[in-house]
Amino acid sequence: MDLEAYLASFDGEPGYLDWAAFGPLSPSVRSEVHADAELLGSGRRAGIDLIGEHVLEARELLAELLGADAEQVALQPSTTAGLMQAIYGLAGGLMLSRGEFPSLTVTATRAAAALGSIDLQWLEPENGFVTPELVREALTGDTRAVAVSLVDFRTGYRADLTALRDVIGDRLLIVDAMQGFGAVEADYAAADVVCGNGYKWLRAGRGTGFAWFGERALERIAPVLSGWAGVDGDLPVDLVPQPTASAQAFTVSRPDHLAVARLATALRDVRDVGIDYIDAELSERSRDVIFFADRYEVPVLTPREPERRGGIVTLAPAVQDVGPLAASLANHGITVTVRSGLVRVAPHVGTGADTLRLFGDALAAFSSARVW
Ligand SMILES: Cc1ncc(COP(=O)(O)O)c(C=O)c1O
Repeated sequence: MDLEAYLASFDGEPGYLDWAAFGPLSPSVRSEVHADAELLGSGRRAGIDLIGEHVLEARELLAELLGADAEQVALQPSTTAGLMQAIYGLAGGLMLSRGEFPSLTVTATRAAAALGSIDLQWLEPENGFVTPELVREALTGDTRAVAVSLVDFRTGYRADLTALRDVIGDRLLIVDAMQGFGAVEADYAAADVVCGNGYKWLRAGRGTGFAWFGERALERIAPVLSGWAGVDGDLPVDLVPQPTASAQAFTVSRPDHLAVARLATALRDVRDVGIDYIDAELSERSRDVIFFADRYEVPVLTPREPERRGGIVTLAPAVQDVGPLAASLANHGITVTVRSGLVRVAPHVGTGADTLRLFGDALAAFSSARVW
C-alpha cells in the first residue's frame, strides 16, 4: 500500500472525529475478514491452517514496528489483558497516575489487592501529564516499575519514553500504547513492556491486542496468569510443564485467528506506509483541530508541541459551554467523545477537508451563540 492508497482508504462518512474511541475498519481489513471467513467455513484443513499462519505474521509485523524480536511479542485479546499479564507478575512499588485509563488503574488495584506483594505509588498530576520531572520527584527506593500511557486518553499528552527511561534508571517501564501505537513514533526500546490493541488507530477491530516483553521484563516479571498456551511444545497433557522462557509465557489460550488476520492486515498497511509518515500527517490533522479551537477561543488542554501530542486534541470549554458546544458538534454531524466536561476530538491521517470544514462550522455556530 502506498501513501495515496492509504489516504484513499479512509472511506467513511465525513464528520468522524472519534478515532480515539473506535477506528472504523479499513477496506483491507474488511476484505480480509470476508476472505478468511470463507476459508474457515470450507471444512478444509489447508484453509484452516492458512488462517492460523497469520499468528506468526502478526507477531513478526508487531516486532518490526516495535523494533523488537517476534519471540518477545505475545498476542492478547486486549490491551488490558496484556497489562494484566505484566502487572500481576510484579512485586514491589508500582508507580502510576490516578488519571490513567482504567486498564492501568483498575488492573493495578486488583493485582495489589489479590497478591499483597505490590505497593501502589499513585501520582496525582494537576494537568494529567505524566512528565519525567513528576516521576523523578516521586520515585522512592521501593519503586520497581512505572506504568504510563504512551498517549493519554483524556488529555492527549504524549509521554516522553526516552526521558522517562533516563529518570527511572533500570526500573521497569510498562507502557499502555493503546492511544499511540500505529499512530505516532515512539522510543519503544526505552520501555520494558508495551501493550496495545488494534481497534482504534490501526482500524483492525476488537480482539487484536498484543504485548511485548523486553529482556528485563522477561527476567523480572513472573508469568502469574500463564495458561496452557504459554508452554514450550505442543498441548501440555498429563504432566504440567513450566511456562516457556519467552514472552509466549504471558498468554492464556490460542488467539482468535480471524482477529489476528485483521491485525496482520492492518499492521502491513502501517508498515508499508511508514509510521514516520503517519505520525507527521496525524500531527498536521491535530494541528488543524487546534487551529479551529484557537480561532473560536475554545481552550485546548492538549500540549501544543507536536512531539507531546498524537491524534487526540482535548477541548476544555467553560462549564456553561460544554452542552452548547456538544450540541453544535452533533448538529453539524460531528462525532466526538464528550466526557466529564471535556470534548475529545480525534482525527486520523485520512480526516479530510470536508470533516474539518464541518468541525469549523460547528465551532463557528457555537461561538456566535456564546454568551460571554
Ligand atoms: C489508554 C487506553 N488504554 C486501554 C484502553 C482499553 O483497551 P482494551 O479495550 O484493548 O483493553 C483504552 C480504551 O479507550 C485506552 O484509551
